[in-house]
Amino acid sequence: MRKKQELRSDKREVAAIVVVAEGGAIGRGGDLLCHLPADLKHFKQITMGHSIVMGRRTFDSFPKGALPGRQNIVVTRNPHFSAPDVTVAHSLDEAIAAATMPGEVFIIGGAQIYAAAIERVTTLYLTRLHATFDDAATFFPAINPDDWETIAEEHHEADDRNAYPYTFVTLKRKK
Ligand SMILES: NC(=O)c1ccc[n+]([C@@H]2O[C@H](COP(=O)([O-])OP(=O)(O)OC[C@H]3O[C@@H](n4cnc5c(N)ncnc54)[C@H](OP(=O)(O)O)[C@@H]3O)[C@@H](O)[C@H]2O)c1
Repeated sequence: MRKKQELRSDKREVAAIVVVAEGGAIGRGGDLLCHLPADLKHFKQITMGHSIVMGRRTFDSFPKGALPGRQNIVVTRNPHFSAPDVTVAHSLDEAIAAATMPGEVFIIGGAQIYAAAIERVTTLYLTRLHATFDDAATFFPAINPDDWETIAEEHHEADDRNAYPYTFVTLKRKK
């Protein structure tokens, strides 16, 4: 049974989506680095209708629990964990195997889950935040730029609602 699940999970395309500031920073104080409405919209557009995989701490940071319109898969070592509208998994393999929605399975963080998943990721949806946060506490794993090809890039300046300039970048792992 376990073997079958692993085989199935190996066939899924795995993507990661993340906001990364200078120095690879992704979080501080258990939360995101800043509130960037344009990125929330972008995140929603890309992940809607798909399965999303997150660490338990990232799930705990959501003010309203599971994100609507997506299968929320939470990875935890806690055998008793449960939450409304959440699929619980106890390893990354189990999480990917549990994905039931079509298309790519999206790894949405945080640092522990990105680090565990990065070798399996074939598409990276990065929002590069052009800002430095000295109190950042969590970081995206280092990637080798030689392994990745940029297939899309869209820059935006800061505006009334978005306090920092940012660039949406899509990277594909080279074969
Ligand atoms: N910038 C971004 O795009 C972005 C995206 C997401 C999150 N973040 C930020 O990242 C920070 C959270 O990251 P984090 O690294 O502290 O936590 P995390 O990766 O969200 O969650 C860590 C938890 O996941 C579970 N876990 C991790 N590895 C596991 C494994 N191999 N097997 C089973 N369970 C496992 C454990 O849960 P249990 O303790 O329950 O066992 C662990 O405590 C927050 O600041 C958040 O805002 C940023």
